[in-house]
Amino acid sequence: MSARLQGRTALVTGSTDGLGVGIARALADEGAFVIVSGRSAARGEKVVAEIAERGGAAVFVRADLARGGPAVRELAAAAQAAAAANGGGEGGGGGGPLDILVNNAAMLIAPSPTAEISEDLIDGALAVNVKAPILLTGLIAPGMAARGHGAIVNVGSINGLVGMAGSALYSTTKAAIHSLTKSWAAEYGPSGVRVNTVSPGPTATERNLAFEDHIAPIIARTPSRRMGTPDEVAKAVVFLVSDDALNIHGATLTVDGGLSAI
Ligand SMILES: NC(=O)c1ccc[n+]([C@@H]2O[C@H](COP(=O)([O-])OP(=O)(O)OC[C@H]3O[C@@H](n4cnc5c(N)ncnc54)[C@H](OP(=O)(O)O)[C@@H]3O)[C@@H](O)[C@H]2O)c1
Repeated sequence: MSARLQGRTALVTGSTDGLGVGIARALADEGAFVIVSGRSAARGEKVVAEIAERGGAAVFVRADLARGGPAVRELAAAAQAAAAANGGGEGGGGGGPLDILVNNAAMLIAPSPTAEISEDLIDGALAVNVKAPILLTGLIAPGMAARGHGAIVNVGSINGLVGMAGSALYSTTKAAIHSLTKSWAAEYGPSGVRVNTVSPGPTATERNLAFEDHIAPIIARTPSRRMGTPDEVAKAVVFLVSDDALNIHGATLTVDGGLSAI
């Protein structure tokens, strides 16, 4: 275990399942104190226990990001309190004690024709995938900026970069994430807060295995000819939040087996 993130605190949204679990583990493996979040306390506490077994430190904070401003404000306050209770914040001092924010939580949407997308689904997807990260970043990034350092990674998607039939709504939300990274790099970069995107391609999570029929033809034209793994995505996140990436702002690091390149 190396310790590139020793003394830092990280909030990872959507870290009770899928890619977020790998990201939370990898940040903790590098010495960060990790705030695991999601709706499921049972899965969240399991992730916290796994991190502890590996010698790391984490706590779970429950949040349902579909519930708008009050839920996001509760998450930000609870995460900052948990970080402070842990002695949080590299170097301490003014503003929020969080050093790292990973906007990873998202509502994944089964492929469907645009004509079948309901208004409720649009509202739900925009709430979790776009509104919540904007509100959360607006609550946490100013504290980082006041302290002169911080790193934010937004988890985008191959769907935010290329067109895919049946994916109009989900892709729109992920394209928004790619755009937010650039806006925030411009807004917060001058204050020492680096904001970047990690953009996975099809990755082997439990949920994705249910969509294998939809994914197989995509893999067939992916240069790597395979799905990625959560660990591969997590390593990219760790790199971007570490001091190895100090001059990287507003970038998109694709972890998609080359799919977006062809
Ligand atoms: N898997 C892929 O192939 C792939 C490819 C490209 C991009 N991505 C991106 O990677 C990120 C993670 O995706 P994933 O595949 O790991 O998805 P996943 O397995 O469905 O996990 C989603 C995570 O988000 C949380 N979440 C969902 N709705 C939430 C809500 N309303 N409030 C709070 N938390 C919520 C879930 O926790 P709870 O259930 O506990 O709420 C879970 O921890 C997403 O941004 C996705 O767009 C994934």
